Amino acid sequence: MNRPETRIEQLLSEMTLAEKVGQMTQIKMDRVGWPEGEERIRRGQVGSVLTIYGASKINRLQRIAVEGSRLGIPLLIGNDVIHGYRTIFPIPLAESCTWDPGLVQQAARIAAEEAAADGTDWTFAPMVDICRDPRWGRIAEGAGEDPFLGAAMARARVRGFEASDLTSGRNLVSCPKHYAAYGAAEAGKDYNTVDISERTLRDVYLPPFQAAFEEGAGTVMSAFNEIAGVPASANALILDTVLRHEWGFPGVVLTDWNAIGELISHGVAADLKEAAERSVLAGVDMDMVADAYHRHLADLVHEGRVPLSVVDDAVRRVLRLKLALGLFERPYTDESLASEVILRPAYREKALEVAQKSMVLLKNSERLLPLDPALKRIALIGPLADDHHHILGCWYRIGRDEDTESVLDGLRAVLPTTTELTHLRGCDLEGREEPDLEGAAQVARDAELAILVLGEGEHMSGEAHSRAYLGLPGHQQALLETVQATGVPLVVVLMSGRPLVIPWMAEHVPAILQAWHGGIRAGRAVADLVVGATDPSAKLTASWPRTEGQIPVYYAHKSTGRPEGGAGTVQFDRLHFSNYIDERNEPLFPFGYGLSYTSFAYRDLEIETPQVGLDGVLIVSATIANTGDRTGDEIVQLYVRDLVGSVTRPVKELKGFQRVSLDPGKDTRVRFEVPVQQLGFHDLKMAYVVEPGEFSVWVGPNAAQGLEGFFEVVE
Ligand code: BGC
Repeated sequence: MNRPETRIEQLLSEMTLAEKVGQMTQIKMDRVGWPEGEERIRRGQVGSVLTIYGASKINRLQRIAVEGSRLGIPLLIGNDVIHGYRTIFPIPLAESCTWDPGLVQQAARIAAEEAAADGTDWTFAPMVDICRDPRWGRIAEGAGEDPFLGAAMARARVRGFEASDLTSGRNLVSCPKHYAAYGAAEAGKDYNTVDISERTLRDVYLPPFQAAFEEGAGTVMSAFNEIAGVPASANALILDTVLRHEWGFPGVVLTDWNAIGELISHGVAADLKEAAERSVLAGVDMDMVADAYHRHLADLVHEGRVPLSVVDDAVRRVLRLKLALGLFERPYTDESLASEVILRPAYREKALEVAQKSMVLLKNSERLLPLDPALKRIALIGPLADDHHHILGCWYRIGRDEDTESVLDGLRAVLPTTTELTHLRGCDLEGREEPDLEGAAQVARDAELAILVLGEGEHMSGEAHSRAYLGLPGHQQALLETVQATGVPLVVVLMSGRPLVIPWMAEHVPAILQAWHGGIRAGRAVADLVVGATDPSAKLTASWPRTEGQIPVYYAHKSTGRPEGGAGTVQFDRLHFSNYIDERNEPLFPFGYGLSYTSFAYRDLEIETPQVGLDGVLIVSATIANTGDRTGDEIVQLYVRDLVGSVTRPVKELKGFQRVSLDPGKDTRVRFEVPVQQLGFHDLKMAYVVEPGEFSVWVGPNAAQGLEGFFEVVE
């Protein structure tokens, strides 16, 4: 046995059952009360504490564990470091629109630097839930609708969080969540029922988790939701069969907040004791705040309902993690470090770069953008125009308003002093106050161009913030229509935590920039993009519906037996196809879509491997040309379709992407190499297979366009 394993066995042999259960217990100090929490730590009844910030507070608890408890086992300190710690980056959905895993990794690493310097050992991130329903507020926290892109982002974040050379000398462990399929909540309502097939679970929802574990993620969080009748936090299929046996995951399984307690509301446990029994037997190692293990696990063992070996294995995993993080050697955090590490200028610069690369140009029909430098009078209107709070997005935690730049600040910094910038809020976000429509119209009329900054507040997405209506909240649509009616050239900067439903805006406003909730540098990033100091290059990672009635609308849908074929209905014209009588099938903006200030053309698709073996590599190339008059970045995407399968296959699936930068008039050959083993799915026996046969392949600028070719997979 190696040294850590010997140490673990030594500790286990000295531990009482209560101390073992302690290692399987995570508490929140404010929930149990500080005196009681400290007493429990002293008695060895706590393995981990969550949601606690600041090295001095954390050291104080750690000292009790290390110096005051019988065995001196250090605590694991867990926090939600979702898109930055103090240097707040764009929300993860926005970050994914960079299609730049390297950049996303750098952002995660900065978050890890700051969090570790302030005493955090464990981040409850990345959130890797695939989501195809923008009503769900937590779509903000993930990487959108696609498992391939989701897996790439999951890997990037794990690499960034678990970097082994942080300034603090400490390490951070990541926690992919919410395992599993939380993003498939019915009707987009948070915490709602999930009832999907095992095939969809394996083909769509599990790949980003598997990718995160392949990258070395040390822990995982079991979700709140049920999956086909069995709550995830008591679900042996996902926690034991898939996680432990198929994937061989060696790390720690922690539940989501009180998820063991919620087994009672789910109606699969009569009381907390039965809930504890179900969870531990299914494979949950650590109980987040339910105190189900704390109160009942020892009795369950004494009564023979839970084998001691199950407890011992869970404790081994927790101790192994603590040893791997170096907590036994370095339990305390240098209290002077945070002020040196937090908000370093280089971090603020990186936050700006990520924000710039995450904002999606949705429309620019009259080439209003970038702004004409000759403009002398600009009106800046809207509830988010001078906002210093909502741009932080959901889960900003210790992020501060004072660290942010608003769009007004950003524009003031980049516009020539000779440009007159008139600012008016016009209305509030939610519609609580009377809007000043008159004033807005007046300010717009007095200007040569108006920029409206509209959208959602940070409190309109994230956990427990699902929406049934996805238009502009409050009086913002009225404000928009008022300003548009003045006839002034109009640019809308949209901020939100999800795809919105904006058919009127898409029709009537010539230029729309989707800025999401872009973090502390969002205002400057918007300004840089609007004046053309930098070019927009981001592309959507979730489809934007035309109407809530289309949801779920996603590109990788199935064909059905009655495929619509074209873009969608012309009202009542094509009955008996899979469509609506009153709306088209396609989304307003498809997955992968986003414009640049320049333009790109695709030509000369070549399938270099028209026949490729099961263990081979598909090679496809195409020429991409910059046909505009500015340098720009294009995100080139590769999709495939397996034309005939033993089970139905999606009409398109992303299997590759590359970002290329091109000067005007220049072109380049983009070459994709896709291992054929990545083209598989789960068959009737739930085995992962790649089946020989014909495939279509596309190389294009988004999921709805592209050059098409064919190839064959042969035995
Ligand atoms: C959320 C998790 C989070 C946890 C701890 C829960 O309510 O669902 O995403 O990590 O709280 O804060």
